Amino acid sequence: MEDYKEIIKTKIIKINPAHIDWVPLREAGRAIREGKLVAFPTETVYGLGADALNKEAVLKIFQAKNRPFLDPLIVHINNLNEVNALVEDFPVAAQKLGKLFWPGPLTMVMKKNKIIPDIVTSGLDTVAMRIPDHKVALGLIKEAQRPIAAPSANIFSHTSPTKAEHVISDLQGRVDIILDSGKTMIGVESTVLDVTTFPFKILRLGGATLENLREVVPDIVIADNNIAIKRAPGMLMKHYSPKAKLILVEEKGEKMSEKIQELASLYRNEGFKVGIISCQENSEKYAEYLVKMLGEAEDLDSCARNLYSHLRTLDKEKCDIIISENFANKGLGRAIMDRLRRASR
Ligand code: TXA
Ligand code: MG
Repeated sequence: MEDYKEIIKTKIIKINPAHIDWVPLREAGRAIREGKLVAFPTETVYGLGADALNKEAVLKIFQAKNRPFLDPLIVHINNLNEVNALVEDFPVAAQKLGKLFWPGPLTMVMKKNKIIPDIVTSGLDTVAMRIPDHKVALGLIKEAQRPIAAPSANIFSHTSPTKAEHVISDLQGRVDIILDSGKTMIGVESTVLDVTTFPFKILRLGGATLENLREVVPDIVIADNNIAIKRAPGMLMKHYSPKAKLILVEEKGEKMSEKIQELASLYRNEGFKVGIISCQENSEKYAEYLVKMLGEAEDLDSCARNLYSHLRTLDKEKCDIIISENFANKGLGRAIMDRLRRASR
């Protein structure tokens, strides 16, 4: 796609979710209604929003991000009752998930109805829907009086933004308003669950864990990659990537640290700047390199919260190579490992 040449004057507005100032939020809601682009915080990552029912506005999202048109967007609403107006079918088990997980980091893919423009869904007959768990996001949707289509607020293929400064660095001059509410709570994107087929299938691992989802709908499965790519075409492409080359070390325990030390010294001797992503417990082992620790190995919530931000910092520090430890394949660790694997491809 051609690069986006138009330069917009971007207004950056700080909003404290604990004490919302409705004046700027009303202004941002109006901007959405007028077909403008507003980047906003959610509990997962920052989103780049436009009126989901206005195809010219949605087109601007793709242009601002350099996003290919075959990667469909998530439609954000602020109330479970709004689902029925936008989809053909809201399966009973999905309604149950909605009641328990929304607002929250779960996106459900359902059969869409005609109200949703094709550009939102890349021509698919399904639409991805979610209610974000963030007061500023919910307030924005309320003030816009529209469902808001929003991908993550980064240039396509970069890591998703977990702080407003990440959005500013990627999108300043390309969007009308950026709402700044500090760091996001969860730090990885929502779980995308296809509820149009049985059993329900996870197309993208994310903030709502497999374990928690299965407590409500026990037969949920993780789609194998071929199905995920067919159902969620955007998943095919290189994603979530820092600029540096990322190497994910899959060995466990002591072997993992030894392998990382070996690789790090090899690359350093070749003249490359090496950054390392590790858990807190191991960080001292890599003290001679630039180390970013995500959190205690068992505290996967903290690790997820810090992942993207640390990858961006290592890029800013101009690392050529990032070597990462692996994390437990449970809870939010699954989403962390999914993102590290994709970034290392
Ligand atoms: O946490 C999140 O989900 C964030 C915040 C802003 O809500 N949004 C986000 O959007 O990560 P995005 O566009 O970066 O990723 C959405 C993914 C797409 O890559 C696509 O694969 C999948 O959701 N998706 C969207 N619509 C779909 C559909 N109709 N069928 C299957 N997959 C879909
Ligand atoms: Mg994205």
